[in-house]
Amino acid sequence: MIHTNYLIIGSGVAGLTFAVKIAEQFPDKKVTIVTKANEDESNTKYAQGGIAIVSDKDGDSYQKHIADTLICGDGLCDKSVVEMVIAEGPKRLKELIEWGAKFDKNTNGNLNLGKEGGHSENRVVHHKDQTGQEIERAILSQVHQKKNITVLDHHFAFDLIIEKNRCLGAYVLDQKTKDIYTFHSDFTLLATGGIGHLYGHTTNPVIATGDGIAIAFRAKAEIKEMEFIQFHPTALYDASTGTSFLISEAVRGFGAYLRTKNGHRFMLDYDERGDLASRDIVSQSIDLELKKSSDECVYLDCTHIDLEDFVKHFPMIYEHCKSVGINIAKDWIPVVPAQHYLCGGIVVDKTGKTSIENLFACGECSRTGLHGANRLASNSLLEALVYSDKIYTYLANTSFKNSQFRDTVSDWNMIEKPILNPVYIDEMKAKLQLLMRQNAGIVRNGSDLIAAKNQLNHWQDEIEEKTKNYQVRANLWELYNLIVIGQLIVQQSIERTENRGGFVKFN
Ligand code: FAD
Ligand code: SIN
Repeated sequence: MIHTNYLIIGSGVAGLTFAVKIAEQFPDKKVTIVTKANEDESNTKYAQGGIAIVSDKDGDSYQKHIADTLICGDGLCDKSVVEMVIAEGPKRLKELIEWGAKFDKNTNGNLNLGKEGGHSENRVVHHKDQTGQEIERAILSQVHQKKNITVLDHHFAFDLIIEKNRCLGAYVLDQKTKDIYTFHSDFTLLATGGIGHLYGHTTNPVIATGDGIAIAFRAKAEIKEMEFIQFHPTALYDASTGTSFLISEAVRGFGAYLRTKNGHRFMLDYDERGDLASRDIVSQSIDLELKKSSDECVYLDCTHIDLEDFVKHFPMIYEHCKSVGINIAKDWIPVVPAQHYLCGGIVVDKTGKTSIENLFACGECSRTGLHGANRLASNSLLEALVYSDKIYTYLANTSFKNSQFRDTVSDWNMIEKPILNPVYIDEMKAKLQLLMRQNAGIVRNGSDLIAAKNQLNHWQDEIEEKTKNYQVRANLWELYNLIVIGQLIVQQSIERTENRGGFVKFN
């Protein structure tokens, strides 16, 4: 059994930012970060476009950013949360810069602000097309300077320890030694990110398996708005499943057009904002176009953009396209929508508290009310920065309550059990991903959702049994978690009766 004051599960922007702040506030308290892959592996690391922040108050204003966020969320945002998050943006940006994060500037020394779908102004602060990598680097370097933070990589948290609706810590598998540790913590933060690998076709890295939300659900935390899955319109077309390379929306903000195979700029038929309509509308329009034409993909045309300028702004996208034989100066980039982000998740209040005492959630696994039915581009990093600060501020003023670990809590039962065949797990995961793509994708219908629900219930029983009879391994528990996430998405899609934002259902 290991005691820590603050147990943080996940090392993306949400978990790391909170860790740095709380460790600095309480140098004599122990802060432990467990993370299931390398310490920098996260959705954060792959963020391209940037952080939406009102930094140029001449052309832009909080009111405009608030209005864009509310329009995008299609009536389901919590307005007071939107106002709070947007007003805090500049302070959180200043902090990131003080921590060493570098953002692109113009020749006049001001921040170079990009534009993305749904934004009425240029307000996206970025580091070329590798903003997430830069943020992750800067925050991790702060983490490494704090003596009271321990980072345990390749440690997989698979269940929370709950007693009378209070979180006492978590069970964690050391994936190298296969030991299982009982972490007793005063406060636990879930910062486990997204769910992309439930769909297979996703912009998310393989760590995105919804673990934190599934763990919280098993602990009976409130989970909401799981039906609002965001599909990014422009993932590089690749017929195989797995992680798809993202072509940032900032490329359309830079002037690129979407075209059908025949060259038609179809977005102008769907929305007066054209290629820069919000993501839900662009993805749904592409989906319709592909159904009409039976084509496999649409195209992003950058051929009219100055090449030198493009390479300066989007060096990674340029190089990646080149590596797969696409010369963006001459060729259109084949793109399709792919799962990208989850708008709902573990319900938290304005201080990041979940419905379970001493359990907090932050970042993509949380549901704050900022995004409503569809997230405005580049509002996610902002949300994680603001809420990690809110949780820190709350806990900086909260006394410790969990100091006695109850006798009733026991270590995980380590009796000898067989290891489940990984082929079985891989095959089941592929079937699950196909089911979710076919029955719970961009456009859904009532009967497909009911069929998916029945299938998922059956798989849930099967896999739950396996978790009891086989050794704890990350691949088995990730599959278990993915099935739980699938059930939540399907059930909440069945329950939603009106189409909003990223949610479209026909009966
Ligand atoms: P993550 O960064 O995903 O971190 C989750 C962490 O939890 C990881 O370290 C993971 O290993 C760990 N973890 C998960 N499960 C477990 C477990 N069971 N045990 C232990 N550890 C666990 N948003 C923007 O605002 N602007 C952008 O430009 C932008 N671009 C994006 C581009 C791409 C390709 C992608 C995929 C996303 C993008 N997003 C963007 C979304 C944004 O990056 C994420 O929503 C945000 O980074 C999430 O941060 P997080 O800290 O909540 O989670
Ligand atoms: C992108 O760069 O297109 C992704 C931005 C986001 O998800 O907010």
